[in-house]
Amino acid sequence: MARSVYHHRTPAFERIFEGCRQGLQWLFQTNHEVLTLSCSGTGAFEAIFQNFFSPGDTIINVGGGKFGDRWAQMATIFGLEVVSLSVPWGESIDPGLVQQALDNHPSTKAVVCVACETSTGTRQPYEALGKMLKDKADCLLIVDGITALGVWDIQPERDHIDVLVAGSQKALMLPPGLAFMSVSPKAWKANQDSRMPHYYFDLAKERATQAKNQTAYTPAVSLITGLQESLLMMQEEGLPNLFARHARIAKATRTAIKALNLELFSKSPADSVTAVKAPTNIPENSIYAGLRDRANLTIAGGQEQLKGKIFRIAHLGYFDELDILTVLSALEIILRQEGYTNFEPGASVAAASPILEEGFQSSST
Ligand SMILES: Cc1ncc(COP(=O)(O)O)c(C=O)c1O
Repeated sequence: MARSVYHHRTPAFERIFEGCRQGLQWLFQTNHEVLTLSCSGTGAFEAIFQNFFSPGDTIINVGGGKFGDRWAQMATIFGLEVVSLSVPWGESIDPGLVQQALDNHPSTKAVVCVACETSTGTRQPYEALGKMLKDKADCLLIVDGITALGVWDIQPERDHIDVLVAGSQKALMLPPGLAFMSVSPKAWKANQDSRMPHYYFDLAKERATQAKNQTAYTPAVSLITGLQESLLMMQEEGLPNLFARHARIAKATRTAIKALNLELFSKSPADSVTAVKAPTNIPENSIYAGLRDRANLTIAGGQEQLKGKIFRIAHLGYFDELDILTVLSALEIILRQEGYTNFEPGASVAAASPILEEGFQSSST
């Protein structure tokens, strides 16, 4: 990425982009086209509402966090009728409620769901929704997989996902600025029927242009150069190992948090990020601020209604067993400094280590 920037209308760029397109289909485990867009994940969702719908169409949106709620808000702005299913933050939706909403709104054009709601660390049951929708010719399943793809085994065809979105800055280990989406034949059919205005995000045009290893407009060339490398790194590790690493680190984190006598926030925790209820006896946000200022480590606080109430430890992408042991060790120190002492020193590392052991293997084997 530090090399001089390629001119994108060149064979050199086309070779790199061709490799990326093949690598993305491998990572998405799909035969559907995977489009690359030069924008963040939110831009990809704007493209979705502009390209698969017409004003007045009804969609069902699964809420339950900052990102689920964002898609409802965005769809409303584009003139869609949104049936918002509210879910208590930190909980996954009962699929029966989605079925009920589909029965009450038979002309629904799509169900939108966030696979891992990053604001609460919660996994939503998109697989059950896929089974509901697979035989409905006119209703798409749109899944925000921004913190799911590349973390666990999520597959467009097997899980009946028509549009699956990912972002460069999460499991793909890149700086922010690229979004990716797989698009099913059913979704392309909806694209033909769409009457929503769009210009920059013209997915049919991107489809035709990207098939020739080009993009409709100037892409984020340096990020695409980096994408080539991160896909190679993922291929070297292999998908089973990649998924196992994330599952192992997530399990170790959850076990360690309990060993600190703290409570997980999510009732259905995802393997990408662990949300923890902050101890009530210490100042708001002092844990993530303490880790940032005194240990040079970045974790996150809560967002919106969870500000000051939770902290979140991300463990996806370029993150290994030693990283989580480092975070846990520093977390213990900061917790003590802030006045939370309801645990034995070393308890989190002791709880996490046996789970992480499998990740320590000689690289020569
Ligand atoms: C699940 C989820 N959806 C959407 C977004 C928004 O993506 P972006 O900030 O790339 O626009 C994020 C960002 O953290 C996310 O985690």
